[in-house]
Amino acid sequence: MSIAIITDEPHAWHTRELKRALAARGYASRSVDLRQCRIDLVASAWGVVIPGFTKELPEAAFVRGVPGGTLEQVVLRLDILHALRELGVPVYNDARAIEKSVDKAMTSFLLHRAGVPTPPTWAVEEEAAVRRIVMKTLADGDSLVAKPLFGSQGKGLRRISEVPDAAPLEAGVAYLQTWLPPNGESYLDWRVLVIGDRAVAAMRRESQHWVTNIAQGAKPVTEDIAAAGNSDLACWAVRAAHALGMDYAGVDLMRDATGKPFVIEVNGVPAWRGLQRVTSINIAETLATDLVERKMARPVLGPQQVVIGR
Ligand SMILES: Nc1ncnc2c1ncn2[C@@H]1O[C@H](COP(=O)(O)OP(=O)(O)OP(=O)(O)O)[C@@H](O)[C@H]1O
Ligand SMILES: [Mg+2]
Repeated sequence: MSIAIITDEPHAWHTRELKRALAARGYASRSVDLRQCRIDLVASAWGVVIPGFTKELPEAAFVRGVPGGTLEQVVLRLDILHALRELGVPVYNDARAIEKSVDKAMTSFLLHRAGVPTPPTWAVEEEAAVRRIVMKTLADGDSLVAKPLFGSQGKGLRRISEVPDAAPLEAGVAYLQTWLPPNGESYLDWRVLVIGDRAVAAMRRESQHWVTNIAQGAKPVTEDIAAAGNSDLACWAVRAAHALGMDYAGVDLMRDATGKPFVIEVNGVPAWRGLQRVTSINIAETLATDLVERKMARPVLGPQQVVIGR
């Protein structure tokens, strides 16, 4: 028996870290590339073929990466993860959670619904609706940011501080959010890593540019998530991860000019190499422990749980 690490990078640092951490807990693991998996009702009694797992299903699947592609390819790759869950394999993070977090509109809706503070946000198709939202927001003295619905790493974000000639539709959709101005001289946000029901590590990302992704040149700075002044960030990060049904998540937060925290983004397949450099806990070990102890543990019926005739 072994655990499937879902990744298209079998030799990458994250994969090696996870394999080592799982091995230390007594679990063998092997990499699985979703592009090589298939739904196959003929070759497999389960209806799904996972290379390397021909005789038995994985004991669990750790989702480290879902390769991008056409909508059809991505749907089929997620189908494999849905199928594993339907077959009783613990999938860490579940495909339903990953789907929600990839879609920024659904993320915003679910955060709002769970009472997690997130900036005012709109996702619309109609140009006239975009114009109305922009005009009203600017009249209120705020500005907006337009983001690609499926964007990542800070790519394609645009600030809107005047009524645009053309609506900022991307792939026919505009995702608009009130822009939070910086709290001080430089721009910053927080990335908090949630594992299970705990915020285990965090970093501050500081930049001269308002898009503070590391991929856009921001500097990672150590942040003690257990410090008293960060308890609201830790609390909302955990609530945000749970609102999307995540086992583990990278949650991005900002503070407005008054210091009020807002959740901006929940990442369901977060990388942690940058965070590992600025935190003392071993992240791969914490993930492996949570997967094994919380998701894979079989319930043991102890004598105190057996009640007869009452
Ligand atoms: N409403 C906002 N106001 C001010 N700055 C923002 C706002 N939304 C995003 N930003 C800045 O842009 C960065 C990227 O935004 P966001 O996290 O939403 O998208 P992404 O990083 O491209 O997507 P993902 O987090 O899914 O990889 C944030 O880290 C933050 O620095
Ligand atoms: Mg982000």
